[in-house]
Formats: sequence, structure tokens, C-alpha cells
Amino acid sequence: MMDHHKSRELFERAQQSLAGGTSSSSRITTTGTEPHPLYMESGSGAHIRDVDGNTYVDYLLSYGSAVLGHANPLLTEALSAVLASGTMFGTCNVPEVELAERICASVPCADLVRYANSGSEAVQGAVRAARGFTGRSVVVKFEGHYHGWTDTLAVSAKAPEAEVGPYHSPAVRPHSRGIPQGVLDDVLVCPWNDVDVLRSVLDAHRGRIAAVICEPIVANNACTMPLPGFLETLREECTDRDIVLIFDEVCTGFRTGPGGAQALFGVVPDLAVYSKALGGGIPLSAFAGRRDIMEQVGDNRIKHGGTYNGSPLCATAALVTVDRLSDPAVQRSIDEAGRRVMEAIRRASRDHGIPCAVQGVGAMFQVVFSADGSPTRHYRDLFAADLARYQLFRHELLRRGIHVNVYGLACWFVSAALNEDDIDRTCTAVYEAFAAL
Ligand SMILES: Cc1ncc(COP(=O)(O)O)c(C=O)c1O
Repeated sequence: MMDHHKSRELFERAQQSLAGGTSSSSRITTTGTEPHPLYMESGSGAHIRDVDGNTYVDYLLSYGSAVLGHANPLLTEALSAVLASGTMFGTCNVPEVELAERICASVPCADLVRYANSGSEAVQGAVRAARGFTGRSVVVKFEGHYHGWTDTLAVSAKAPEAEVGPYHSPAVRPHSRGIPQGVLDDVLVCPWNDVDVLRSVLDAHRGRIAAVICEPIVANNACTMPLPGFLETLREECTDRDIVLIFDEVCTGFRTGPGGAQALFGVVPDLAVYSKALGGGIPLSAFAGRRDIMEQVGDNRIKHGGTYNGSPLCATAALVTVDRLSDPAVQRSIDEAGRRVMEAIRRASRDHGIPCAVQGVGAMFQVVFSADGSPTRHYRDLFAADLARYQLFRHELLRRGIHVNVYGLACWFVSAALNEDDIDRTCTAVYEAFAAL
């Protein structure tokens, strides 16, 4: 039995000074309330260690950011040098230029790049660019896709079943109190993977839509994959109507390969948004895309700013990370490790007669306890999934030293630091956890 008493005490203490005891509304949903979140104090490679001295193989991975593993020696060395020579000057600097060159070389849609610090900010930058470029205001998003916490698109990411509205015209449901109706009026919501509904929404609002935004693999919806041909159709429909297509690659970018999901699926958006794996665990995000759109950001017709954007510290972390991830052997090791774990889950599911879908790709995937083991196609499929069983599964894994996201709609992220022992330990824990379900 693991001892977690120091974590419990820290959570009690934190609630006296931190709102809710945490730094983010999703910290509890993603790291657990059983009966309190765990406090991690160090990490090395694929492992993290909590304040009570328990160690885990980590698949939360800072929500996918620590893609090279924790305390990666190359990152530590490069960042130590930046720490010693000044972390930022608020001026132009060399690493930001080198990084932009790397991004433009890796990402199919990227003619020009701008940096920010979080995924939410970079989404805001891309949406403003699309609105500024087209002179239109409406943005279409898909039900269950998450694009950050800011007002712009904090809509219908996790709407409760009773509030989703009709399938063919989902309700535009704010994610939080405090989002003005005026903001919601400029958002339309579509079910994912449904070409007919998409076309009817685009037709009904012809001439008003600036952008369509999606997570090409829906990391925030249990790694729901695009159905074959869906992204291609999305691309065609946007092109035909001069609508800016934005891929939110905050989770897929650099994780599913140097070119992200757009290279994986061979569908090139007009703009794309990056964060998480790009920074390797240091806060850096970017939006990038078509020259004619991004030029308007460049010449200040479309304004975008930020004190910390592209600082030497963050740009250096990203350069080291992108450099490692562009080695095909590193990409292969991530993909193969993930696929072995996915396969182990499928085997345990078969052997124990507990149906589930293991969906996604090697680098990021999720386990969905659907009644017949079929994968999800859109957000509403998850209403029929057994999310309580997923929580139990996660709990059994945690007891066995495997640390995964608590939330059944999120996903497992795989690092380049997993070795044979880690994978074996994970596969054994998975088998035992299924036996305990
Ligand atoms: C797909 C996607 N977009 C945007 C965001 C927002 O990023 P951040 O939390 O860095 O603001 C997230 C965060 O999880 C995300 O998964």
C-alpha cells in the first residue's frame, strides 16, 4: 500500500492560499481527487517521484510536454547555459530565429511563425489572424474539442449530456461562468466526423465564417481519430468557401512526428497551433501558417504581442526538443513503446473479457470502456462509455506505480525515455489492473 500522507497534508495546506488548492481548474480532473492530488517533487527519464517517495512510470508527462522524459540531460545542459547567460532580454535573439527556421522546415503549413507562451494564447493568436485576414467573425469548432481556457473558444468542450442540444445543431455551451454572450454569438459548434452536418452549417452561415478549428486527433476527447476522408473533406470545404482552416496541434504537434498531424494525415491547414511537446517541458507555444495570412501579423495589421514570447530560455528548450524529435530513431522509439502498451491493453481486455477501445496512435492514445469495445467517432459516443471504470483502471495502475491521466476523456502520452523495463512494468501492471476491475 502506497503512503501518500505528505501529499494529503500539502493539499490541505495549499487550500489555505491557492484557490481550490491548485494552479489550474483542470489539475484536479487530471491528477486526481482520491482523496487528494499527488505532489511530485522530481522526475528523471520516464519516472516521477512524489513527496512521499513513491515512484511512477509517467504517462501524464506534463500533459504531453515532457516528450523527451523528465530532466533530460541535453535539455538540462542547454538550459543551464542559458540560465548562466541571461534568460531573456525582451529583445530579438538568435534561438528564436533558429527555432522558427526549424519549425518552417518541419511543418507543411508553416511559411511564417509567431511565438506565445501557452496553447490558449497561441489559439487566440491564430483565431485573431483568421478573423483579421478574412474580415469575418464567426469561428466553427467541433463538439468535445478543447482549445484552451480563454473566452474565444471555451465552448462545448465538455458539455454535460443534458445540455448538448440537438445532434445536428449542438448548443454553444460556455465552459465556464463569465464568458459573455457576445463571444458565444461568434462561435458555431459541429459534431466531429460528420461531413453532412459540417456542410449544412457552412452553407447556412455562408460569408460569415472566418475559420474552422479542430484537433486533428482529438486528444481531449479520448484520442478520437478522424474518420478516413474527414480531414480531406474539411480541407476542401474550407478552400471552396475561403474559410481559414486551423489545426490545433497543441497535443499532436512534434509528438506524432516532426510535421505533426498534418504530415501524418497529409492534410495541410492554413494555420496551425503548437505548444506542449514543442517546448519539451518549458512554456513555449506558436502559431504558424500561410504567408499571406501571417504577413498581416508581421506588418502589425493584425496585432499580437507578449513580453515573454520567444525568450532565449524557451526557444533554446524548443530547439533541443525539436532537434531530438527530428531523429527518426527517437520518433520510432516513442511510437513503438506506445504501440506495445496499446497492444498489452488490448490483450488484457480480451483475456479478461472486458471490452474497451484503445484508440489513437503510439505517441498518444486512450482507453475507452465502450460497451462493445468500438472506438468513438464523436463526443456524444462518450456518454455511453464507462468513465467510472476508467477511473478504477487508473487507480489500479497508480497502485502499481503507473501514473496516467485520471480523466477518461484525456489521453496517455508516451515519452522517448521509456526503456524495456518501463514498458514491461507497464504491461504487467495493465494486466493485473484488468484482473482487478
Ligand atoms: C488541443 C489543445 N489546445 C489548446 C490547449 C490549451 O493549452 P494551454 O493549457 O497551454 O493554454 C490545450 C491544453 O491542454 C489543448 O490540449
